[in-house]
Amino acid sequence: MEYTLMHKNLPVAQIEIDEETGSISKIIEIFREEHLPVGTVYTDSNPWSAYPSLRAASCLSSGHTMHHETKAQRMALNHWWTGRSIPASRSGIREALDELGVYDTTLLLTHCMGLSLSDHYWIRPANSDVKWEDVNFFTNDFSDDVGDVLFGAPKKQIGFDYSSPDNTSDGNLKKRWKIIGGKRCLLKDGIKPYRQQPFNELIATKIMERLGIAHVPYTVIWEDGKPYSVCEDFVTTDTELVSAWRMTQLRPKANHENTYLHFVNICKESGVPDVTAALDRMLVLDYLIANEDRHLNNFGLLRSVDTLEWIGFAPIFDSGTSLGHNTATAQLGSYDAVCKPFKKTHGEQLKLVSDYSWIDFAKLDGIEDEIRELLSDERAQELIDEERKNAIITGITNRIHQLHGIAMTHTPRPDFSSQENDVEEDVAEDYGMKFE
Ligand SMILES: Nc1ncnc2c1ncn2[C@@H]1O[C@H](COP(=O)(O)OP(=O)(O)OP(=O)(O)O)[C@@H](O)[C@H]1O
Ligand SMILES: [Mg+2]
Repeated sequence: MEYTLMHKNLPVAQIEIDEETGSISKIIEIFREEHLPVGTVYTDSNPWSAYPSLRAASCLSSGHTMHHETKAQRMALNHWWTGRSIPASRSGIREALDELGVYDTTLLLTHCMGLSLSDHYWIRPANSDVKWEDVNFFTNDFSDDVGDVLFGAPKKQIGFDYSSPDNTSDGNLKKRWKIIGGKRCLLKDGIKPYRQQPFNELIATKIMERLGIAHVPYTVIWEDGKPYSVCEDFVTTDTELVSAWRMTQLRPKANHENTYLHFVNICKESGVPDVTAALDRMLVLDYLIANEDRHLNNFGLLRSVDTLEWIGFAPIFDSGTSLGHNTATAQLGSYDAVCKPFKKTHGEQLKLVSDYSWIDFAKLDGIEDEIRELLSDERAQELIDEERKNAIITGITNRIHQLHGIAMTHTPRPDFSSQENDVEEDVAEDYGMKFE
């Protein structure tokens, strides 16, 4: 079926979507190349041009000769489009799809016109003149039906309404958008047995509050005896989130660049302000909380939707897969935390920080008591007992001391050209069935 890919009210491209797979089968015409999603514009030097199946100057498709460029452009756009669907690795998604009677999450995209609460792209059926104002989820209500099923409810038999930003939400944790007190909020589950992620989001929030790091504030709510983290949508009707991963799709990494420099240089080339200072803050936070899942879709940039001007680094979100969330309590003092997105160890990654002078360590005084208080809820204690709570707090205290020592004695001299211990592949933590 034919659609117009829209950016708010601006037609960007005319496309065809295959009803059977939900993917883009054809790009009919591109109207506004500069408004295509970041990293999907085909150029001779973008990663799509090096795609193995596209190396030949031209290739055959459905009996017609299709030019390398045309196919690469479609692949790039299709990769973005299908990546907009709920990942197959989302906790509980198989059961939810069975309940909905849909075999692939990509098929849910057309049910909500591809609308999201993180950006302003959507697809308008050809010959429709519906306006952004009438359909977007930022200012229009949306249905709870898909979110209910994602959270384990049976599918409503009558009047099921698919219009929901849950069809386009990323990430592996069970989650849903909900309008609470007029605000669009993202509710996220934790993983058994400790269900620690929601509390970790809260602890990260408190650390960032104290250190003055721009962040998305999280709180914890309880529903049916389970804790969920809640945060408000930080994207507005004028701004949108572009993930770091999308930025890295603008061009391949040069031989002299490590993973860090690749991202920073692309930001500089694109005119994004103050990226190094913001990265310093993110890397310091991730060191303190031993974050294990800061992959390239777990941070990003904000831009103006209308002018496409870069605003800067997005506030820090998704810091929950940290503090040894699924490590047995007895091992919390000695486990090796996985590190992303730039280096394989937190010690190595910290060496990428350019400046420590902004850290006011006095602001972290008393953080232990604050965390103890946050975890003192009776229901929280059933999940995170006294021994675990102490181990989490000791871990944070030790890392604060280590960081303080480094900041006092070391002048930062990051070696941006070293590719030693670089993270080669950007992969999100897959919680799999074992923790569900
Ligand atoms: N407050 C928010 N406002 C707008 N978009 C958001 C917000 N929080 C998250 N998102 C978007 O939703 C995606 C999924 O959210 P999040 O990263 O918190 O989920 P997750 O399941 O913890 O992810 P992961 O698979 O990395 O563990 C993010 O990558 C981001 O694109
Ligand atoms: Mg995430």
